[in-house]
Amino acid sequence: MLSKLKNLKVLITAGPTREYLDPVRFISNESTGKMGYAIADFLYKNGADVTLISGPVSITSTIPLKKIVQVKSANQMFEACKIYFDTTDVAIFSAAVADYKPKFQSNCKIKKTAEVSMVEFVKNIDLALEFGKVKIGKQISIGFALETNDVLENATKKLQSKNFDSIILNSPKEGEGFGFDTNKIAILKKEGNIKFFSLKSKQEVAIDIINELVEIL
Ligand code: CTP
Repeated sequence: MLSKLKNLKVLITAGPTREYLDPVRFISNESTGKMGYAIADFLYKNGADVTLISGPVSITSTIPLKKIVQVKSANQMFEACKIYFDTTDVAIFSAAVADYKPKFQSNCKIKKTAEVSMVEFVKNIDLALEFGKVKIGKQISIGFALETNDVLENATKKLQSKNFDSIILNSPKEGEGFGFDTNKIAILKKEGNIKFFSLKSKQEVAIDIINELVEIL
């Protein structure tokens, strides 16, 4: 079955994004990129043509460097994805894209003159939502949902609103997902079926996710 991965064009977003306030300060999140990188590595090992669009992380990949596009902000991640999306067979949105960015970005380092400082945030571009709108029939997209409450309901909403074929549900609990080497997931498919998995290493979780993908192909 894994032979279906040979030469399959896959676009993967991974890691956090950084949204800068000034040249040296940013808001971001705890994403390590490990889940996305594990998926990318396994796909590459099995012959897929993988392009990894990565936010700033401190891990490495087995994918050739020329197939990794390093970005920082959500806008940069979006622009990089635009280059590859049309020709991709499968898009996997594993990046923890910052939902908001500072309304203004200063070109100079902000001085600490004010006693109280307020930052106004505006919504960031939602990559998965935008590509979900232009996705064509034969393209497959897989998303992630990080939820703390009403988990199945919220994941189902994201699956539908972002036009995913399936969504990987995980939680920010100790040892699961964000910032850890292990993950405990459920996979929801657009047809309505749900599969639950036990706590595993991210490498093993990547294989579960790819096995599900192979079933759709
Ligand atoms: N996503 C994205 N661009 C964004 C936000 C999210 O591409 N600006 C993608 C993520 O990579 C993931 C999916 O959308 O595949 C869901 O991300 P998540 O952070 O769980 O949900 P949000 O849509 O951001 O909603 P909320 O934070 O309100 O739960």
